[in-house]
Amino acid sequence: MNIYDSELVASILTSEGYKITNDINQAKIVLINTCSVREHAEDKVLNRIKYLEKLKFKDGKQFLLGIIGCMSQRLKDDLINFSKAIDFIVGPDNYRNLIKIINELLITNNKIYCQENNSETYEDIVPKHFLSNGVSTYISITRGCENFCSYCVVPYVRGKERSKKPENIIKEITNATLQGFKEIVLIGQNVDSYYYEGINFPMLLKKIAINFPNLRIRFTTNHPKDLTDELIEVISMYPNIARHIHLPVQSGSNKILKLMNRNYTREYYLNRIKRIKEIIPDCTISTDILVGFCYESENDFLETLSLMEEVIFDQAFMFKYSPRKGTYAYENYEDTVPEEIKIQRLQKVISLQLQHGLLSKQKAIGKTYTVLIENYGKKKNQYLGRNSQNQVIIFESSDSIQLGTYVNVLIEKATPATLIGKLIEIIKI
Ligand code: 5AD
Ligand code: SF4
Repeated sequence: MNIYDSELVASILTSEGYKITNDINQAKIVLINTCSVREHAEDKVLNRIKYLEKLKFKDGKQFLLGIIGCMSQRLKDDLINFSKAIDFIVGPDNYRNLIKIINELLITNNKIYCQENNSETYEDIVPKHFLSNGVSTYISITRGCENFCSYCVVPYVRGKERSKKPENIIKEITNATLQGFKEIVLIGQNVDSYYYEGINFPMLLKKIAINFPNLRIRFTTNHPKDLTDELIEVISMYPNIARHIHLPVQSGSNKILKLMNRNYTREYYLNRIKRIKEIIPDCTISTDILVGFCYESENDFLETLSLMEEVIFDQAFMFKYSPRKGTYAYENYEDTVPEEIKIQRLQKVISLQLQHGLLSKQKAIGKTYTVLIENYGKKKNQYLGRNSQNQVIIFESSDSIQLGTYVNVLIEKATPATLIGKLIEIIKI
C-alpha cells in the first residue's frame, strides 16, 4: 500500500512540474512515507529522520523534509519534537494538499500539519508506477479498514473503509496495460470486503478478468471472514486470476482469535482452506502469523503450530506482537508474554515455515508452469519470474528474453522460497 501511495504522491508532484530524483544532493523536497503497523517500522523511520537532520543542519543541505503516511497521522506532535528538521507532516488522506503545503512553506517557513481523515480515494489520479519493475504493478481498490483487530493501529491511521468506483478501477487498469504492465495486484487493507453500489469483490474480480484476458490478476490482502465461496468460485473460473490466496490467520487458538477480535474461529478458518483446496486444487495459500499476543499461553502457541501443520502454507509473514498505543489491546490487555518468549516463538514458527515452504515447493517438481518473467537473476543468463501460484521460479536461457514475457518452465529443484527449472518454451501472446 505504501509503494502505491508513494507512486500516487509522485504523480501529484510531477503533474505540477516536480521531478523525481534518487540523489539526495539534488533534492529540494525529501518525503518519507511511513508505516505504523509495528514498532520496528517506526524505529527505522526515526533513524532515517536523524540521518536527514544531520545532512540538513551539519552538512548544510537545503531541502524541505516532509513526513507522510501512517506515522504522521499517529504521532504528529511527537514527530515535531523529535526533530527540528521536519517541515511538514501529511497523513494518508491529504496528499492532494501537498502542493499547497509546499508552496505555503516556501513563503512562510512555518511547520505545517495536515492530517484528518476524510473520504478520499484519489479516484481521478492515475499513479505513475515508477517504483515497479515494469511488469507487475499495484492498483488500489479500497482504502482504510474498519475491522478493528485489537492489536492493529491501521483503522486509526487509515480511517474508514472506502471502495473505489469499478469504472475508475477499470480505467486505471487500462492505463497500466497501455504502459505495458502484464500483471496487476489489486490492493487494499481488506480487498475481499470491497463493495460499491451493489458490486462486491467477486463481481469486480470477474469483470476485470473478462475485460483483461491477457493480464495476470493478483489481489491482497484478505480477511478470512470475507472470503466467500462465491469468491473462490470466481477465481477457479478464470485462468488469468492467480491461483494464490493470501489469507492471514494470525493465530491457531480460538482464545487468542477472540482476544484479537478476528471474528472467526480456527474451525472456520480451516473450513475456508478446505473449500479453497476443493474448488481450486492447484491454489497456494500464504498467511500472516502473529505470535506472543497478550495472554498467549504455551498451549495457545502450540495450536498455532498445529494449524500450520494442518494447512502447510506455501509462504508466511511472521511477526511478534508489538503493542501499539491507542489500540484496544494496548488500552485494555496486558502485554503478558516476555520478550524472550516472543522471540523464541517467532523463531519456532519461522523454522517450521521453512520446512513447510519446502514441502509445498517440492510438490511443483516435475510440473510445468507458465511463468511471467519479472527480472534478471543474479547469475549470467538467469531469469526470475513467478507462476500463477506466486512461487518464484529461476531458470536459465542463453537467448535473450524480454522482461514481461510468458514462458513455460519445467520445475527440477525446490528450496523453501524458490523453484528452479528448465525453459521449455516462450509463449507468444
Ligand atoms: N504487532 C505485530 N504485528 C502486527 N501486525 C499488525 N499489527 C501488529 C502488531 N501490533 C501484523 C499482522 C498483520 C500484518 C500486516 O502485520 O500479522 O496481518
Ligand atoms: Fe489491521 Fe485487522 Fe484491518 Fe488487517 S483487518 S488492517 S489486521 S484491523
